[in-house]
Amino acid sequence: MSAIHFDPKQRLFLVKMRTSYYAFRILEDGQVVHCGSGSLPGVVETDALLSGLNVYEDPNYIWESQSRRYEIPAFGDVSYHDIGLKVAFPQPAVPPAVHEAANLPVRDVRPRYVSHEIRTDEKPWLAPAHGLPVRKTAPRETLCVRLKDATCDFGVTLFYRITPEHDIIERWLELENNTPVEVAVESLVFGTVHLPNGRYEVTRAAGCWGREFVPVRQNLEQGRMILDQQGLNTGHAGNPFYLLNARGNATETAGDVWFGALAYSGNWSLRFEALPTEAVRVHGGYELSDFSLSLAPGATHRTPAFVHGCSGEGWGGASRSMHRFIREYVLPHSAELRPVLYNSWEATYFDITLENQTALARTAASVGVELFCMDDGWFGGRRHDCAGLGDWTVSESVFSGGLKPLIDEVKRLGMKFGLWVEPEMINPDSDLYRAHPDWVLHFPGRPRTESRNQLVLDFGRPEVVEHIFTVLNRLVADHPIDFFKWDMNRYASEPGSVAGKAIWRKHVEGVYSIYDRLRKAHPGLDIQSCSGGGGRVDIGMLGRADQVWTSDNTDAYDRVFIQDGFSLAYPPRVMESWVTHEKNHQTGRIASLDLRFDVAMRGALGIGLAFSDLSAEELDACRCKIAFYKKIRPVVQEGDLYRLSFGPDHGGVSIWEIVLPDASRAVYSIAVIHHLQGIHRAPARLKALAPAAIYAITDERGAEIGRYSGFQLMTLGMPGDTVFGGAGQSIRSRTLLLERMK
Ligand code: GLA
Repeated sequence: MSAIHFDPKQRLFLVKMRTSYYAFRILEDGQVVHCGSGSLPGVVETDALLSGLNVYEDPNYIWESQSRRYEIPAFGDVSYHDIGLKVAFPQPAVPPAVHEAANLPVRDVRPRYVSHEIRTDEKPWLAPAHGLPVRKTAPRETLCVRLKDATCDFGVTLFYRITPEHDIIERWLELENNTPVEVAVESLVFGTVHLPNGRYEVTRAAGCWGREFVPVRQNLEQGRMILDQQGLNTGHAGNPFYLLNARGNATETAGDVWFGALAYSGNWSLRFEALPTEAVRVHGGYELSDFSLSLAPGATHRTPAFVHGCSGEGWGGASRSMHRFIREYVLPHSAELRPVLYNSWEATYFDITLENQTALARTAASVGVELFCMDDGWFGGRRHDCAGLGDWTVSESVFSGGLKPLIDEVKRLGMKFGLWVEPEMINPDSDLYRAHPDWVLHFPGRPRTESRNQLVLDFGRPEVVEHIFTVLNRLVADHPIDFFKWDMNRYASEPGSVAGKAIWRKHVEGVYSIYDRLRKAHPGLDIQSCSGGGGRVDIGMLGRADQVWTSDNTDAYDRVFIQDGFSLAYPPRVMESWVTHEKNHQTGRIASLDLRFDVAMRGALGIGLAFSDLSAEELDACRCKIAFYKKIRPVVQEGDLYRLSFGPDHGGVSIWEIVLPDASRAVYSIAVIHHLQGIHRAPARLKALAPAAIYAITDERGAEIGRYSGFQLMTLGMPGDTVFGGAGQSIRSRTLLLERMK
């Protein structure tokens, strides 16, 4: 049954999803205005919904049309507020009088309804597109609403692709210049989302390198709040997602939460507007500081997608909708579980030798690692971060016999082999730069500012993109490489390119095209997206990468907060988390092996230990914990996440429960970062279990610690984590498996 309904009498569109709706209509003059969105109050007949949605006076009409809820608010008509589309026409449709020439270009666009249709499997530009199977292949409906400027032949089509079972709409726009002259698009969103008028709070990620995804919850006050990134990647200081709710009206478990995320890894912006009328809207699209888009006659531009929806189950429900959507429709290969990875970075840094990598690989295999990834330092003159980037050939001085002996050994040990690359970058001290000093972003006669001693390749040049594809493709063709860690370690500055200002989009296009071509040519190749930690995590990238590096900060205490924030939008299975040294290399803090594992096991487990520092007992402990992770992995990576205690909100106690959709198994993970003496915290009440079923609860050693009914666990809570007394009695962290008894 179609999720998209149209009532021709009222000229009203209704998208009815599993638990939420979205509606808009066409006014007399052809303008398209939003009617409402939110969770459905129980089971509602479509006809009932259709008949009642257009009877309300739009509360914003009192301010003329200035704050009407246009599906695409354009710079034209009466427009006093932020807009989603601005176009400059050098010539008006009717030739101007001589004395009017100075008033050009015409910065006025008025999109009016022309027609609509429902298509199947229509895709946004740069859609998540790895070319590999996704979990769900069922066709999806897309509503396309074609608009045209009131006087010029300039088309704007609004797209709404519906995933009803997860209450998700993907929005994007297509512009079509059918005028006889080139036009300049000066501002462009992928979509604008309107909320019911009111006072809202927003939950989002903030931070910096080493502190990515730290959740912030703040009131939206009258005015604008802009989240954006200008560095050419998704960024560390913010991430293109949000959760919005009427103030005081949502919790982790209840209340309407309107959420959104951009499927784009370049310069993005989310602009939140709270108007004087208390109308609230979010414009999600390109970042505008150096934005430019020219459309020649006949040219079109299709934007990436703005993914959004509404959950009636609070912040937790909003996260689960996004997680399920990403697992089922975005990620490649998603039927496979992510392997336990070893990464050499924190063990050997740039001091790579065949001997030390072989030794690491042998111990890694002996404790149960499944994928061995050699990090930076294996190529060209890359013995430190001052040289070699760009020269993607195996370093003779490190591997005199090439990579074969190491890879053979890794494979003999039964593991997959992975390699670190940073394809978009170049050290000036490299053969590539000496051969092609023009292949970098720069302005003539101006300084080329280095960051981490590197410059950014100009992906506006097709020959550069082709070169990078060729060298990476050759690496995989010449070696049995199963995995790339694709890094990106600086933001772009001085963006001079042969592509002009379009470089901001061209770069992303180039990166995506290399990912897509590599994956097509090597369907067995997996890719991790990394950008100095979690600087390139978004739905556009997740449509190409299998997993992401969450943060360079591997301190388990900090990671609890980082991972809690990450989980607001992204699912555990993509969240690579490593167990590293007892004394953390980033913060110098000491953490027990238990805490380090308990925190890392919440995602795609990785190990970054220097094994030579470990005693035989510690290695045994690693072996035991990795075996336990493999047991709980299907639940961690495929289950639904319930944040029973959200670290930042709950004094530093973070409790995750991840449950399989059929309630047959669940994982319970607690990490207590901070607990004040004398407080007796109530046991966490679990969610989504089968009330009448009995669950056996086991720890990492397989010891059964009790059997309880789903009802007990969901009402009285998880026994044993109640009281925090003196040091000896306190539980700092633990991970448990719950299995339903037959
Ligand atoms: C970045 C990554 C690290 C590591 C280094 C190597 O910082 O985030 O994990 O790969 O680069 O130079």
